[in-house]
Amino acid sequence: MFKLIYAPGDGIGPEIGNVALRILEFELNKYNVEYSITPIYFGGISIDSYGVPLTDRALSLIKESDAVLLGAVGGPKWDNVDPSIRPEKGLLKLRKECGAYANYRPARIYGPLKNASPLKESIIDKGVDIMIVRELSGGIYFGKRMEGNDEAYDTEYYSRPEIERIIKAGFECAIKRNKRICLVDKANVMASSRLWRKIFNEIALEYPSVETSAMYVDNAAMQLSSKPYSFDTIVTSNLFGDILSDEAAVITGSIGMLPSASIGDVDIFEPIHGSAPDIAGKNIANPMGMVLSAAMIFMYNLNMPGPAIEIEKAVLRVLENGYRTADIYHGDSSTKLVSTTEIGDALQDELR
Ligand code: IPM
Ligand code: MN
Repeated sequence: MFKLIYAPGDGIGPEIGNVALRILEFELNKYNVEYSITPIYFGGISIDSYGVPLTDRALSLIKESDAVLLGAVGGPKWDNVDPSIRPEKGLLKLRKECGAYANYRPARIYGPLKNASPLKESIIDKGVDIMIVRELSGGIYFGKRMEGNDEAYDTEYYSRPEIERIIKAGFECAIKRNKRICLVDKANVMASSRLWRKIFNEIALEYPSVETSAMYVDNAAMQLSSKPYSFDTIVTSNLFGDILSDEAAVITGSIGMLPSASIGDVDIFEPIHGSAPDIAGKNIANPMGMVLSAAMIFMYNLNMPGPAIEIEKAVLRVLENGYRTADIYHGDSSTKLVSTTEIGDALQDELR
């Protein structure tokens, strides 16, 4: 029995979540997977009802489950709440409590969206297919910090076991892809980065078939936009992975397209974009990032590549057929501007 917790969250979360859930359940039924789906309040909506972004009760439901499908959290309504109960705090607590240390963020260009990328076609044509493997439960996000009026600090702390497991995850990923891995760090300045590099070089010896490189993060940011085709798998820390995955996303045309999987004791699946409060409730948000996150559930949690590939193909077909939400619509005559739910209908038609 596959036990899923569904946490649509705030802003566009519930709208895109409806589409993602519909596609997920359609495929679960098609493949005769026995499942249960338990919805929970998470993020701002939970603050409104219970005063905290993630309640103990929700957390205990999560800990008894196999995976969580998340929408997005946060919005201006909760920007001024006490920092210790912000929606984002709930997200970080969730990741930590689930032991979700390895965050997989694939960024690839879908052929029909080539013109949505801000990069020149001559660059895009060389192919963009990158997997960012981001450390998710350590580093500066969780290090010792102090927040005063006249001074404040955050610390980037990493232990050897934390670095080893994420670097191994990176190599295991690279070996299934194009067998190239790039460590992104700031080893010319940061002590923690130098430890990452040392451990990366040690683990590389166990993977002689994988070609390795290491790059400082400032250079990596530049190379990502000038030569995205030169990357295959990137392994990096929590903060650098956060920043570079947004950059990689925009290169592919829209941040609305990108899914993610966070693997640990309980796996978390969520689009990498935020809650987009400015367009919430209008049925215009792009649900594809969350739909593709549902596809990642099949690949990474259920170990069923079949339905994952079917969903990815359906996304491609819907794009080929010209359907576009506003974020990827550029007014050309071969495309049609459609709503969030219409994308859901079109996806389901493809899967039938
Ligand atoms: C992400 C988000 C989160 C992060 C925020 C909302 C805490 O930007 O998932 O990339 O920084 O990890
Ligand atoms: Mn981010």
